[in-house]
Amino acid sequence: MKINGIAYRSVWLDEDQWSVRIFDQTRLPWLVEQIRLTTWQEAAHAIRSMQVRGAPLIGAVAAYGVALAMRTAPEALDAVLEALNETRPTAINLRWALDRQRARLHNLPIEARAAAAYAEAAHIADDDAETCRRIGENGLPLLQEIAAKKGRVNVLTHCNAGWLATVDWGTALAPIYMAHDAGLDIHVWVDETRPRNQGAALTAFELGAHGVKHTVIADNAGGHYMQHGEVDIVIVGTDRVTRTGDVANKIGTYLKALAAHDNGVPFWVALPHSTLDMRVRDGVAEIPIEERSGAEVTEMTGRTADGRIETVRVVAGGSAAANPAFDVTPARLVTGLITERGRCAANEGALLAMYPEKA
Ligand code: MRU
Repeated sequence: MKINGIAYRSVWLDEDQWSVRIFDQTRLPWLVEQIRLTTWQEAAHAIRSMQVRGAPLIGAVAAYGVALAMRTAPEALDAVLEALNETRPTAINLRWALDRQRARLHNLPIEARAAAAYAEAAHIADDDAETCRRIGENGLPLLQEIAAKKGRVNVLTHCNAGWLATVDWGTALAPIYMAHDAGLDIHVWVDETRPRNQGAALTAFELGAHGVKHTVIADNAGGHYMQHGEVDIVIVGTDRVTRTGDVANKIGTYLKALAAHDNGVPFWVALPHSTLDMRVRDGVAEIPIEERSGAEVTEMTGRTADGRIETVRVVAGGSAAANPAFDVTPARLVTGLITERGRCAANEGALLAMYPEKA
């Protein structure tokens, strides 16, 4: 996708053909800054500190982290895989990408590991870009159908499931980009997504850069707009989908699904194959939910009128703050899943029919 007319992916190999480049997403939308990763520890830090975030992108950067490690310490494969796996707990794409690297490298002679690790990381990145493009194609008819009936489409999305969260295109945003490019009259309600504001800071930035009409709303406003017929469809991304179709996604997604259910608004979830976790049945009971620092709740970062980026406290001292980063939406609240293979219901039978090899 493009920033200022230049096409980028969210992770790519530097001109030197060994170091790895990312955008520092903690600085967006105020500053578009690249970071050059030269060690696996820097890749781990980028994931943990959310310089990169979003389930598929975390997986791709971890895969490149393994490649960086194999250049200098190929004998440390197991330790590196374990350390990278511990950077964030909820998005299953991280483990998926590391399992791919393990399978590819484990039986290779030490001296062959670096080249193979770079090839596998590139494969994972290319696969994600193509997978997301297909998710866009498979989600587009949902939007075309609404536009054919109403003349325009109002989508609501939560968090950032755009190209910054994947390698390219995005998951939830891919059908939106394709609808816009196809000339549909489309408008997106963008949940701000407290506490880290991925909606306000990243989704709005992406949509704006692509020229898609959008309005940032407080997280609590979505239900109101649904009650007043202002939301035709909700599309969100996900960090993990269980065998039974339960969906883990950014905190607050569950409340949007409840409001959508109460108002008869279709609630769709877009995911690549790498987000499926067939080992888990009960999402609420079994998916580990990342607990992040309470400071993300008590403080906010933004740009001052004179251009400085500053963090301010928004809660008086002395109050405790809790910060679960994800929640689980039960399958019964999900209208359907948009995948690279097509659309299906959020249940075990439909998922197994779509992905028989994962049974
Ligand atoms: O904490 P984050 O910013 O990594 O959380 C990201 C999300 O919850 C996204 O919606 C999810 O990863 C889907 S991204 C295609």
